Amino acid sequence: MLPTPASLAAATAAAAGTPPQRSSGRRALSAALLMLAAPALLVAPAAAQSVSVLGSREAAQAAADQLVFFLQAPGNCLQVNSDLPASAPSKNLAALWIRAVFHDAGTWVPTGSPTGGANAGIMSFLNQTENGGIADSIAPKFQQNTKVSISKADAIALGGVVSVAHCGGPSITYSPGRVDTTTPANPTGRLPSATEAFDSVLTKLRRMGWSNEDIVALVTGSHTMGGVHGAITPEITNKPFVPFDTTPGVFDNDVFKRSLAGKCVLPVDCSIAKDATLRPIVEKYANDQQAFFTQYAISFAKLMGQTNDTTLLPSVPVTIALHKNLFAEGTTDENGNVLSGSSTTAAGSSPTNPSKAAAGEGSVVQRCVTVAAVWAAGWFLYSRLM
Ligand code: HEM
Ligand SMILES: *[C@@H]1O[C@H](CO)[C@@H](O)[C@H](O)[C@H]1NC(C)=O
Ligand SMILES: *[C@@H]1O[C@H](CO)[C@@H](O)[C@H](O)[C@H]1NC(C)=O
Repeated sequence: MLPTPASLAAATAAAAGTPPQRSSGRRALSAALLMLAAPALLVAPAAAQSVSVLGSREAAQAAADQLVFFLQAPGNCLQVNSDLPASAPSKNLAALWIRAVFHDAGTWVPTGSPTGGANAGIMSFLNQTENGGIADSIAPKFQQNTKVSISKADAIALGGVVSVAHCGGPSITYSPGRVDTTTPANPTGRLPSATEAFDSVLTKLRRMGWSNEDIVALVTGSHTMGGVHGAITPEITNKPFVPFDTTPGVFDNDVFKRSLAGKCVLPVDCSIAKDATLRPIVEKYANDQQAFFTQYAISFAKLMGQTNDTTLLPSVPVTIALHKNLFAEGTTDENGNVLSGSSTTAAGSSPTNPSKAAAGEGSVVQRCVTVAAVWAAGWFLYSRLM
């Protein structure tokens, strides 16, 4: 299925959410920082209107540009040609970033004294089996390359938003402002596992307040990207890689057609397709990709906000380019074997790392980014002081 024009640029919806609650002490410190940053504000007054650097459009766009850069492989939106270690069991960077959003937010327990959720707690548990494969992607990409301008928790969320839109899926409204937790929640027992009984999986998803539509869109829908790796999930396969659908590098609705036909790599997707209540939703998405995309954007935005640790800032628009060569590669045959790339590399310029290219440009955008960086430094100081 071809992407709709809506997926070509991720222009987000109108501002949603409320400013974060801050103590008066923090407000006073913010004011002091504001004065410190005054010279920078004279350079680009527009940035002064940002609630904080965490919420600035410039910071989000700069981070998104960097994330897109890492997804630009010569052939495939899924498998990148650089930066992941050769030993990484999954090289599916875009898929890993989508999965990382679930494995961060999916630790959320909203009742009692709430814990977990979309707060970068995953960074403390990358070595646990639940997060197998994610460590190789998340540490080098998010941590080292985006820590200056946005929080790690925002980078994880934005990685998902960028991957979905870049690989042909819907535009997802991105709201920044997540604060990295100092009390991370251990994912064991909170995230569903590959062979867990369906009732038990559903209990975990309902714990997070997921509707039937959320469950179908987010679980089976996310399995439109990537697949299972023997080195990560030996209970499912002993092959290096078994893709979930015939287009593991394209965000589309093929995975629903397969699960309706009983062709599932993971039991959970066939359990969903067989469930009397959920099956009609699977059928709807299999027949109507736009209906899937619309729901996915809603459900994924919900997922990205699932924590009690942060009140998200108003949404900011982020522009995300579609992968240049999305449909000429990455397909598999019915047995799940990846067909060799007969892909033609898209004509045009080779991608430039925006973090390197930015130096010395002097454009308005460049100045905004510089101001964002000044604010980031200020925020970093501020967060250390508090
Ligand atoms: C709730 C039940 C779920 C279960 C039991 C489940 C289980 C799994 C398993 C076992 C894998 C294979 C990992 C590997 O071997 O590389 C996988 C991959 C994946 N999952 Fe899920 N998952 C669930 C929900 C979700 C959700 C909600 C998302 C995203 C919002 C998601 C996104 C992904 C992606 C993108 C991959 C491919 C990763 C890659 O190719 O490296 N999954 N999932
Ligand atoms: C994961 O394990 C590696 C190697 O043992 C170690 O260097 C790293 O600090 C660990 N990371 C976490 C988050 O525990
Ligand atoms: C945590 O967030 C959820 C959902 O927003 C809400 O229902 C719950 O009351 C919150 N818990 C606390 C203690 O604020």
